[in-house]
Amino acid sequence: MTTIRPFVCEDLFRFNNVNLDPLTETYGLPFYMQYLARWPEYFQTCESAGGRIMGYIMGKAEGGGEKWHGHVTALTVAPEFRRLGLAGKLMNNLEQISEQKKCFFVDLFVRVSNKVAVNMYRKLGYEVYRTVLEYYSGDVDEDAYDMRKALSRDKDKKSMIPLKRPVRPDELD
Ligand SMILES: CC(C)(COP(=O)(O)OP(=O)(O)OC[C@H]1O[C@@H](n2cnc3c(N)ncnc32)[C@H](O)[C@@H]1OP(=O)(O)O)[C@@H](O)C(=O)NCCC(=O)NCCS
Repeated sequence: MTTIRPFVCEDLFRFNNVNLDPLTETYGLPFYMQYLARWPEYFQTCESAGGRIMGYIMGKAEGGGEKWHGHVTALTVAPEFRRLGLAGKLMNNLEQISEQKKCFFVDLFVRVSNKVAVNMYRKLGYEVYRTVLEYYSGDVDEDAYDMRKALSRDKDKKSMIPLKRPVRPDELD
């Protein structure tokens, strides 16, 4: 049986099986603690019957006016537990929380090369809103897609109308 429950501090010492993945970023402890303190409802984990962390989602709500939105900061599922629908469930939870908070949309950033994730987000109803040039730094910097899904408050789906040109990270608001 899989349990979806709030992520807690102790999980930070048990998530290596999930984070030892090239597409999953490991942040410093203060970063996780900030999310736990400020947006605990947006930090959820899936745990297996045997007590193993299977994956987690970390997010927040931010922005003002019609830019009030839910944001997915991290979504990851351990390789051994993939294709079970866990990421879809975690995304659905985050969207429901964002609906309750009366957000206009949910957004996320994903590497352009991460085709599995990009396709999964499309399947979940997300569209590319804009490309952010050289958003990810590394030996070779990589572009990100800023993908969005309108929530029920944005009836006309205005938040999803794609920008006509790519932007640079310093243009992000
Ligand atoms: C992307 C990721 C989170 C997907 O997690 P998951 O729990 O396996 O995803 P789900 O089982 O919910 O899949 C949902 C849908 O996405 C698509 N999908 C997911 N993985 C796929 C794959 N390897 N190949 C093709 N389609 C895939 C499928 O359409 C799938 O639905 P289906 O199984 O009914 O066909 C997981 O592969 C992962 O953690 N990757 C590394 C970290 C990462 O890339 N995170 C996202 C960065 S923003």
